[in-house]
This record gives sequence, structure tokens and C-alpha cells, in this order.
Amino acid sequence: MSDVEQTLGRIAAAGDLQALDAARVEALGKNGWVTALLKTLGGMTPDERQVRGPEIQGVRARVTEAIAERKEQLVSAELERRLATERLDLSLPAPERPQGTVHPVSQVMDELAEIFADLGFAVAEGPEIETDWYNFTALNMPESHPARAMHDTFYCEPRDGEPARVLRTHTSPVQIRAMEKHGAPLRVIAPGRVYRSDSDATHTPMFHQVEGIVIDRAIHLGHLKWTLETFLKAFFERDDIAIRMRPSYFPFTEPSAEVDVGWSMEKGRRVVGGQEGWMEVLGSGMVHPRVIAAAGLDPNEWQGFAFGTGIDRLAMLKYGMNDLRQFFDGDIRWLKHYGFAALAIPTLSAGVGA
Ligand code: DAH
Repeated sequence: MSDVEQTLGRIAAAGDLQALDAARVEALGKNGWVTALLKTLGGMTPDERQVRGPEIQGVRARVTEAIAERKEQLVSAELERRLATERLDLSLPAPERPQGTVHPVSQVMDELAEIFADLGFAVAEGPEIETDWYNFTALNMPESHPARAMHDTFYCEPRDGEPARVLRTHTSPVQIRAMEKHGAPLRVIAPGRVYRSDSDATHTPMFHQVEGIVIDRAIHLGHLKWTLETFLKAFFERDDIAIRMRPSYFPFTEPSAEVDVGWSMEKGRRVVGGQEGWMEVLGSGMVHPRVIAAAGLDPNEWQGFAFGTGIDRLAMLKYGMNDLRQFFDGDIRWLKHYGFAALAIPTLSAGVGA
């Protein structure tokens, strides 16, 4: 067998890239036999070269081509092999991972956003470290106003040249910020953390409120009542929600009303719905003209209603917890019991309750 046939045989038989490369070196390497043949061309007469030259180049071309072809075969065979062995069965159960839950407060905030979005409300935010002006003065509580004393305020250490700051005692300051930022007409809710120096089974120094405000040209108490009724029906997922508005006082609304919701006993538990008794759930009223003016709008042109309530309390009423302090203990057992799956996203169509 000639050298060419032998080399081509070896190339065809190469079982992997390494064997193929060995065959290549033997023929085309620095000391390979094809290379040696090529070197003989230099010592030939022109006549000899004219005959042997094309022969030798032809040998080199055949060997080179055979190597390339075999290489392609080996590479694709290797790919096939890997595709066959590195298979991943996606139907296998995922490995156990520690799973957290969505805190009821977050869940209720999502429910509120969903319900009020359907009524055309956007979600607004404001800072938790708030200036005295937004937290009190702009809400018609000037310094020395007696209502200030009711808030058990955490005051921040005053700093030279900076406005006095407090930890916001309610979400109402977001009313002012939203009016300033977006003007009128306006429809927003503002959920968030608030702070008061108070602590027992039903009070924690930090808790959550949601504020709502609607400003337009002809908004009246009827709109307020309908909005709250619609909200409470959607939130508690019952049609037999009864509300009662009692005259009250808040500095930032005139007139002001406290809103009670009817409750009844079901399986020994007090639940929202029916009318066996009443419990207070919301503060509300028509936004005071001075508040509208403090936010830079003309109270002769614009009017509206506002309301505020505690989110933690709403969560307790809906999901049956009875000690507020446990909301903030971070106890994994409580969270497993009362928390929500990450994918239990509230939607109006499916019912906002998880
Ligand atoms: N800011 C009040 C509070 O913290 C709640 C409240 C009452 C908000 C009446 C309002 C309102 O917007 O109109 O107790």
C-alpha cells in the first residue's frame, strides 16, 4: 500500500481528534512524509518538477481534505453524544428550597391597590421621615393645635437651618404631596408605614395606614359613601356590607365622619358583614378648604373627599389574627400560618382574597 493509502486509512480510522492529529503530524507535520516530499521539489530539474510537482501537491491536497472531512465527522459525532447524554428531565420535581411567604400587610396593600385601581385611583408615596409642615401644619394643624397632642409623635433631633421633622404619624401628608405633584383632578391612595409612640396588644410604634383622596370640581359626600361601600364590599368579598357614617372631627376635613361597618357572629367569631353590631373602620370627610389651599390649589375651584384607615387592622379583620404585635415579630411559624404564597396575586376577577 502506498504512503497515501496508508495515511488516508489512518485518517478514516481515527477515533478521536487526538488520533486524527497524530495522523496529520505524520503526513503534514514538520517531519511528515508529505512535507519531506515537498522539500524534494527544490532539488529537481525544471522538467522533473513539472511532472512531480502537481503529483506531490495533489497528494497534499487529498490528505488535507481527508483530515478536514474526518474532523467534521468527529466534531458532530461528539455533539450528538453530548446531546444524548446531557439530557435534563424538566419534569423532575425541583429540589426542596426554604420558602418564605408574603406578609399579610403586603398582601392587603396589593389588594387595596387592585381594588382602587379599578376605581381609577393611582398609588402615591411619601417619605416616612416627614417635615412638621406636611405632617401637621398643611393639614390644618398649626403649632399648638390640640390635635397634634393626640398623635404621640416621634420628633427628630432638630438640625440647624433645616425644617423640623417627625416620623410621620399618619399617611395624610401624602394628600398634600400628591396635590402638589399632580394637581387636580386627583384620585390616589397612599399606603405606607406610620409611627406613634404607643405599644400594647392593639398598638405598635410602627404600623400601616392607607390614605385616599379624590379632588375634582363637584365631589360630594355621596361619592365618598359610595366609594367606601364599594371598597369594603370588594375587600371583604361580601355584598351584605353595611356602613354607617357618624359625624366626627378631623382638622383636615370639614365635615368629618367616622365610618362604622356592620359585623355579625359566625361560628363564634365576629366577622365583617351583616348588622348585629358596628365597629369603626375609617376616618373620612370632605377635604378642608385650608388643606386644598395649603397644597397650592384653589379651594373655590376644587373640592373632594379623603379617608384614612389602618391596614394592619383591615388585615386582622379579614384574616382573623388577634394580636397586632405578632405582625412584627418575624416569627416564621406565624408567617407560615398567616402569610401568602408569592403567586397568590390579588385580582378583582378572581376575588381579591387569597
Ligand atoms: N389621618 C387620620 C389618622 O391617622 C385618619 C384620617 C381621618 C385620614 C380622616 C383622613 C381623613 O384622610 O379624612 O387617624
